[in-house]
Amino acid sequence: MGITMNYILDESYITHSTKSLLENTKETSAIVGNIKDRLRETPNLVLPLQKTLQLVDQLSEFPLGRFLLHNKGLNGFWTSYIFNSSSEDRKNHPLENWLLNNSILTSARERFFRFKKILQSYVRSDITMCSVPCGLMDELLSLDYSTIDNFQLVGIDIDDESIEYARKNAIKQNLINNVNFIQRDAWGLDITSRFDLLTSNGLNMYESDEKRLIALYKNFRKALKNDGILVLSYIPTPPKNANDELMAQLFGMTVEDFKLERSIFTDIIQVTYLNFCSDEALKHQLEAAGFSLLNIQYNQNGVSPIAIAQAK
Ligand SMILES: C[S@@+](CC[C@H](N)C(=O)[O-])C[C@H]1O[C@@H](n2cnc3c(N)ncnc32)[C@H](O)[C@@H]1O
Repeated sequence: MGITMNYILDESYITHSTKSLLENTKETSAIVGNIKDRLRETPNLVLPLQKTLQLVDQLSEFPLGRFLLHNKGLNGFWTSYIFNSSSEDRKNHPLENWLLNNSILTSARERFFRFKKILQSYVRSDITMCSVPCGLMDELLSLDYSTIDNFQLVGIDIDDESIEYARKNAIKQNLINNVNFIQRDAWGLDITSRFDLLTSNGLNMYESDEKRLIALYKNFRKALKNDGILVLSYIPTPPKNANDELMAQLFGMTVEDFKLERSIFTDIIQVTYLNFCSDEALKHQLEAAGFSLLNIQYNQNGVSPIAIAQAK
């Protein structure tokens, strides 16, 4: 019974399968044991086996680490936790501090702030903006609407726990009267010509099947009005000559930190969100779904892109 208790969600949830806050239970010990068995059989680990096994134990000692071990990905609660944490904000566990301040999660945070800048530039009176998947909906709920009248925000996510947190977030930001939530699978939106802008951060990277990606973007296209704007993140294909030195440089990390990153996210957790997409493939997928790609915005090191497309 302990083995199934945390697993409350069905397979339409492509990012996670448990609730957010997990105790260190027998189920966690079983996952830790399985991962260690697999690592002992894995040739060419990034870090020495003993160090890698210690990292598995350390991940099980704090809630964010446990969530990653159980789910191999992130839900809305933990994404919001990562985006809203700051380097002054020291956590109890040294590995959690490392994840929040030194890992590639810091690039996801940097991209989130660029997302907000882009979205803010589209804010105008009478606009209806939607976030799919909304998670806690930080990117729309933390914008400045003080200079405009009459706007609507819609948050769509498959996860009722995320929507409950997002509702609390909307109350906190004094925006609850402008927000509607819909609990729905992003592949079955069934919404027609309703939004002026749709933002999507953190879903397509969990999907490896191009047909499913095009189907997702078709759902977004249908939900947008003609000429509506899509603001989308994706994980670009690493450069051909990528090695630890180059990747560390691109992500502004030390080589030592990049190796730790690979050990934790690739060797240990085997995250499910590293579905790379080239700019050309993205353009093709968006066009097949009825968009024209307007612009791709990278950060100053040329990584963590955000695409802006328009519904044709
Ligand atoms: C990594 S979080 C990103 C949340 C939010 N966009 C943000 O940036 O904070 C991924 C979100 O996708 C949601 N999700 C997973 N599968 C989904 C599906 N099939 N349809 C809609 N939402 C889904 C999860 O519940 C979670 O809130």
